[in-house]
Amino acid sequence: MLKFDFFRMNDISSTDYQKVYDQKNEVYEKFHSSDMVGWTNHIDISEVERMIHLSEQVKKESQCLVVIGIGGSFLGSYAVLKMLSNYFNDDSFPIIYAGTTLSSKYMSELLDYLKDIDFSVNVISKSGTTMETMMTYQMIKQLMAEKYDEKEQQKRIIVTTDQDQGILRQEVNQMGYQSFEIPNNIGGRYSIMTPAHLLPLAFNVDIKKLIDGYYQGEQFREEAFQYAVVRKCLANSGKWIENYCVYEESLYYFTEWLKQLFGETEGKNGQGIFPVSMVHTRDLHSLGQFIQQGRKIVFETFIEVEHSNKLLYNGQDLHTINGIVLESVRKAHFSGDVACLKIGLDYLNEVSIGQLLYFFMLSAAFSGYLFQVEPFDQPGVEVYKKEIKENLGVLSY
Ligand code: PA5
Repeated sequence: MLKFDFFRMNDISSTDYQKVYDQKNEVYEKFHSSDMVGWTNHIDISEVERMIHLSEQVKKESQCLVVIGIGGSFLGSYAVLKMLSNYFNDDSFPIIYAGTTLSSKYMSELLDYLKDIDFSVNVISKSGTTMETMMTYQMIKQLMAEKYDEKEQQKRIIVTTDQDQGILRQEVNQMGYQSFEIPNNIGGRYSIMTPAHLLPLAFNVDIKKLIDGYYQGEQFREEAFQYAVVRKCLANSGKWIENYCVYEESLYYFTEWLKQLFGETEGKNGQGIFPVSMVHTRDLHSLGQFIQQGRKIVFETFIEVEHSNKLLYNGQDLHTINGIVLESVRKAHFSGDVACLKIGLDYLNEVSIGQLLYFFMLSAAFSGYLFQVEPFDQPGVEVYKKEIKENLGVLSY
């Protein structure tokens, strides 16, 4: 279950808050008339079963799954996997992510590693035109062609892409690869409950519980709107940077997912809040100085996990100490004129993570409308893609 505490701040008067809050009907109307909110629909259960079944099959035939994708086709599953994995003695099925950089060191070491083991690949790209993904896929496919005959490749290549368009969909139709669809009415950063993320997660996570939690997230719609309102008011008062603070290292990639979600949703037409993140207490010993006494352009959102492993330090529970530290830091930063919001989840498990994902996605979409931008496009990302294409010439992918 999620808990919220948005009002530890000096910056917003109740009149200012009310003024932004009063846009609720207008925001909801825009949200409901958007054709990009397919992520609020229920997920086809037969597809969920197919993903689980396929993951079981791949586990029998492969020593690892290579997942190729970037941005909205990468961050969600990676973040959830990290949140639910053990730090040590992790007995989960090995998932290797690739295609998030063009590092020749990473790629050559990966190809070298894969040479001697049996593996399967899941390439994920809605457009089928993303350079990093497609180049990585070509390199992996070349290795597969050296190792496996056509029938075996068909078994080992799984494609997740647009339901009807793009090079990858064409390839599926020609080669008979196994495939899953990313619906037309769901964009990359809102695709967490599509096969783009559910399939890689199915290998190690109870995705049915995750989906249940996600549906339950709807009960926090009012809080999602309130969070969007508070953020907009803070931005109006000159707080242009939001710092997500987590107290568990395994949540770091969740903050990376949040950065994409809010950064791409709001950051257009000269609008939006710039999202950053810190892992505490580690980063208090670096950026903590700026937050406490630097330029007053930052507000913070603390994400707290209420219950964790039991471990005593000098007779006191270590996780309780971590919680006391969180509240002390909030108090200290608040005394330095930093608004300190908090979102808590009881346990780090599939259900509460599902709730949290939906809560933030709703809030980001509402926030886009409050900033008067289109929440579901990302024309700015296309600019660099176009520039690269011009500078590299036509690559054969
Ligand atoms: O949010 C987005 O739309 C982007 O970050 C995309 O997910 C990213 O560029 C990858 O795109 P694709 O899935 O088409 O390869």
